[in-house]
Amino acid sequence: MARPKVTVIGAGNVGATTAQRIVEAGLADVVLVDIVEGLPQGKALDLSESAPVLGHDCRISGSNDYADTAGSDIVVVTSGLARQPGMSRDDLLAKNTAIVRSVVQQATAVSPAAVLIVVTNPLDAMCHVALQASGFPRERVLGMAGVLDSARFRTFIAWELGVSVTSTHAFVLGGHGDTMVPLPRYSSVAGVPLTELLSAERIEELVTRTRNGGAEVVALLKSGSAYYAPAAAVAQMVAAILGDTKAILPCAVLLRGEYGHRDLFVGVPVKLGRGGMEAVVEIELSAEERAAFDRSADAVRELVEHLPAG
Ligand code: APR
Repeated sequence: MARPKVTVIGAGNVGATTAQRIVEAGLADVVLVDIVEGLPQGKALDLSESAPVLGHDCRISGSNDYADTAGSDIVVVTSGLARQPGMSRDDLLAKNTAIVRSVVQQATAVSPAAVLIVVTNPLDAMCHVALQASGFPRERVLGMAGVLDSARFRTFIAWELGVSVTSTHAFVLGGHGDTMVPLPRYSSVAGVPLTELLSAERIEELVTRTRNGGAEVVALLKSGSAYYAPAAAVAQMVAAILGDTKAILPCAVLLRGEYGHRDLFVGVPVKLGRGGMEAVVEIELSAEERAAFDRSADAVRELVEHLPAG
């Protein structure tokens, strides 16, 4: 049987690391695409030459031509600009909207059955652009944010309690930004809710650090933003989709009344399988959690209303 095919658009830090994780985990053959000539080809060649040492046979190629991406099972969108000093949020929104619209139109034209995973920021707004540019049903347009935000929360929980990260579980819902909604009540260590293990004050500190997780990395790196954990999060979603595992992971999806919101991409727990998003899992929220979720959804809506028409 032919191996699945995944296209990763954007051969920068997040894209190249995502491609690396996918082939090294043996999940799929990968085509890495970028607008810069030579960049995806060079990184793909370098990654190909590490395969004999690592012992995998997945193929990875680089291209500037979408014809090479035809028939992909999954298309991961990481292309975009990072916010530069002096660039307003609206400037960034306009630039990345144009980039995401263009790459999604070109990629989905030759891979009409693919599942799209959007990574470019501002994430929730870029999901709307991808949905519109592809014309895909909502089941096949997913945003990667919740897995990353939850992984950050799990890291801090594991450090705090001195336990293995594998014994932790966490859910972070809502938009991917300052208003994200970590849910301590649904976060646990070996099944015991976090609220029974730590004081409310300490939990709040871990929640705040999770909320600032991306900014904390940016502040240390000085230039550029996180990519190891984002790439790992995308690879986990790819594994769940290609393996049809029905894993329940927090992803940005278009809500159609679930959680009280409609026609808005927000992070919620979803069941992932070969068809992409196979169900939205509705968990009960307390009044306080619901208010935080609504605030987060409102922030996404405000951004979406600022999207340039296209
Ligand atoms: N088509 C294809 N590739 C493009 C296009 C385009 N129209 N425009 C830009 N790119 C490429 C750039 O050439 C660059 O190689 O996208 C890549 C982006 O890579 P980086 O600048 O290294 O950014 P990265 O850290 O990978 O982040 C990518 O993911 O997490 C988000 O906020 C992050 O939106 C950002 C995205």
